[in-house]
Amino acid sequence: MATSAPLLDVQGVTIQYKTAEQLVTATWQVGFQVDRTDRLVLLGPSGCGKSTILKAVGGYLTPADGRITLDGRTISGPGPDRMMVFQETDQLLPWKTVRQNVAFALTASRKASQNEADEQAMAAIRTVKLEKFADAYPHTLSGGMKQRVAIARCLAMKPEIVLMDEPFAALDALTRQQMQEELLELWNRSKFTMIFVTHSIEEAILLGNRIVLLSPHPGQVKEILDVDLDDPANRFHGRFNDLRDTIHRVLFHDLGDYVI
Ligand SMILES: Nc1ncnc2c1ncn2[C@@H]1O[C@H](COP(=O)(O)OP(=O)(O)O)[C@@H](O)[C@H]1O
Ligand SMILES: [Mg+2]
Repeated sequence: MATSAPLLDVQGVTIQYKTAEQLVTATWQVGFQVDRTDRLVLLGPSGCGKSTILKAVGGYLTPADGRITLDGRTISGPGPDRMMVFQETDQLLPWKTVRQNVAFALTASRKASQNEADEQAMAAIRTVKLEKFADAYPHTLSGGMKQRVAIARCLAMKPEIVLMDEPFAALDALTRQQMQEELLELWNRSKFTMIFVTHSIEEAILLGNRIVLLSPHPGQVKEILDVDLDDPANRFHGRFNDLRDTIHRVLFHDLGDYVI
């Protein structure tokens, strides 16, 4: 059977930070592949290098060893083909409205003229159900609404791959659950490719079709699991619990005396 090349290929990636006092090895020989329309989750405890890997895919960090290719080309810097959504709810420009925030990314990257950008921005804002707030400023929105704008801004760019770094971690539990379900609905409609970072086992099972389990510092791949749930939103599904137990076992085995 012919296998097609993955969209993103992370091969033996070791990433180090050089500080004045020391050399910190954040990840060690990390490898995984992302195919088109995958919802790949990076799961592991705090400090295991999840954000570091995402920043390397984003082109903001260069691996000390290994390489990352997108569509066969080695990533050498940031680009509009990889858009990030962060945890912080203050990632919007406070002096621009919702619509201007979304349109700005499009015009700044010269993906669209001002008129086209306005139209595309409105279309993206509609997909996250915020059309009534298109002319509102970020400070008037709730945390969940701000994250929806950040997601709209990202998707409006039609990147090859969407990079999400714990985008719902700062939200209250109910809003977080709602956002998870909305993200799945959005994916069902437009089938984008994403890497989603979280330290929540449940969030990983809910959102991912594949989960990369990372060991603590320095982050190494422990296991890669396929999520085969008919209805991921059913958190009381037997298979959901099986996966949660498996992940627990792998992560806790590795954590040893760590407490998470
Ligand atoms: N700018 C930095 N300088 C030095 N060490 C860093 C820097 N950023 C992250 N680290 C270290 O790299 C490791 C991985 O960090 P990070 O990728 O933020 O983990 P995670 O996102 O999984 O919580 C941690 O030990 C962290 O302290
Ligand atoms: Mg992080």
